Amino acid sequence: MTLPSRVRIFEVGARDGLQNEKQMVPVDIKVELIERLIDAGVGAIETGSFVSPKWVPQMADTADVMAKLPVRDDVIYSVLTPNMKGYEGAMAAKADEVEIFTAASELFNKRNINCSIAESIERFTPVMAAAKEAGIPVRASVSCALGSPFGDEITPATVADVAAKMYDMGCYEVSLADTIGVGTPRRTKEVIEAVATAIPLDVIGVHFHDTYGQALANYLAALEMGVARFDSSVAGLGGCPYAPGATGNVATEDVVYMLDGMGIDSSIDLKKLVRTAWFISDFFGRAPVSSVARALKNKLD
Ligand code: HMG
Ligand code: MG
Repeated sequence: MTLPSRVRIFEVGARDGLQNEKQMVPVDIKVELIERLIDAGVGAIETGSFVSPKWVPQMADTADVMAKLPVRDDVIYSVLTPNMKGYEGAMAAKADEVEIFTAASELFNKRNINCSIAESIERFTPVMAAAKEAGIPVRASVSCALGSPFGDEITPATVADVAAKMYDMGCYEVSLADTIGVGTPRRTKEVIEAVATAIPLDVIGVHFHDTYGQALANYLAALEMGVARFDSSVAGLGGCPYAPGATGNVATEDVVYMLDGMGIDSSIDLKKLVRTAWFISDFFGRAPVSSVARALKNKLD
């Protein structure tokens, strides 16, 4: 087994995290959150989404957030875009990259973006063409890769099939999402193994929610398969309003602590990250769910 020497962390807290909070978060708090993440060394940040404000009102101010972010050529600002309208919003806001998203579950896709998997891919075709023309990288997310909230069976072959479609469209990374955090390490490996027969291993990413406390174990399983692209969320924020029961993503602090301990480089300063986790958690008036953030709270200086 050869473990990767470096993992790219794609920080989703400002999008996946804040989209799921009942409390609306002011633009300036979102901007400070992102600035603190940059200061901690995070190089790829999901800053929001250009989706219907009726569907996800928490993200309606993404353009305002983007307008206030520092111009940095060493940081990627990425946004979720379900269709051409979203892509146009992303370009007007000067996003560095966009993320298209579909699912391995027809039932979830219908509830989340109001179309079938095949229809979603049709909507992405003009997005991919425009992004190619403009030289904008596109990453893809495949929800429900380890299970669906609606009880429909998700086979590794289905996940591989959807992942291959996204890769064949030109996505540089295909992130396999455990939307409701139900996966366990053996299943994680089976799914990655199936997907890796369809697309190159080095474009596969993982995005695991921690609903059942399995996410870190599943990241280790992915790491052991050679996967080196991890999505995670500061303070363990997150969830999907259209996935009943889904809680937050694995906390970035917990992932970075694990990687540091294993001698795997993430380029992130753990103490600065933990301070960031407390910054956003203090805003909500609660402690981070992250064990590492709580353990390090009084050991930051
Ligand atoms: P629809 O109602 O079928 O769309 O929604 P439509 O094309 O019929 O348009 C309806 C209205 O939405 C129109 O406005 C459009 O202009 C507007 P109206 O005429 O009624 O005033 N509209 C938009 N507005 C802003 N930005 C857009 C946009 N597109 C249309 N891009 C749609 C289809 C996809 C728009 C809707 O279902 C939607 O916005 N869904 C997004 C849901 C979402 O954001 N979910 C959470 C993110 S996914 C996630 O969390 C999972 C992930 O983390 C991985 C994992 O963990 O699984 C990525
Ligand atoms: Mg998610």
